Amino acid sequence: MLKIGVLASGKGTNLQAIIDAIERKEVPAKIGIVLSDNPDAHCLERTKRAGIKALYLPAGRFKTYLEPEIEKKYINVLKKEGVELVCLAGFMRVLKKDFLNAFAGKIVNIHPALLPSFPGLESWKQALNYGVRFTGATVHFVEGGVDSGPVILQAVVPVRPDDTPETLHRRIQEKEHIIYPLAIKLIAENRLRIEGRRVKIEE
Ligand code: GAR
Repeated sequence: MLKIGVLASGKGTNLQAIIDAIERKEVPAKIGIVLSDNPDAHCLERTKRAGIKALYLPAGRFKTYLEPEIEKKYINVLKKEGVELVCLAGFMRVLKKDFLNAFAGKIVNIHPALLPSFPGLESWKQALNYGVRFTGATVHFVEGGVDSGPVILQAVVPVRPDDTPETLHRRIQEKEHIIYPLAIKLIAENRLRIEGRRVKIEE
């Protein structure tokens, strides 16, 4: 059974989708621990409610990444827990080299756009402002950089003429909640091969 660690900063609806899919036995994995950089994050509530270990680890002085000493703490806690795959689920900080090396090829992220379009914050607003007809969600392996790395799965969401940022994000999240557990299932079943930038899915 693949042991996963989840890093989250916010509402935790993706975390919930993963918890639910594991409970329904659709994903052969177990969540060892959930870490958050936000003490008020609803994701911590969800974790405790599901009987999963949850830990708030303050991020330190910087806004967009973890202070190096603190990043070491994150790594140590995850390693101690025996985590084999790190899932970023709305974790709003960029991970640095030490973390990427500690879990090389074993970190995945969900992003609310069809990458490489609209990386960064509030991608659904970026998509609306740009005027694209279609946007979506992406699950990808994490490498250095913001929301970059080989794509595992994507789902397309049409932009409606009357969409607001909220309605569009809600529909994107419905897709996120499907493709994130599915991507984790593929990893847990050892069915993904990274070949350069492309990820092959074995039958
Ligand atoms: C999700 O839409 C996720 O794709 C996004 O944060 C939201 C978290 O929602 N992540 C990023 O923008 C990463 N760049 P959740 O807390 O309800 O899962």
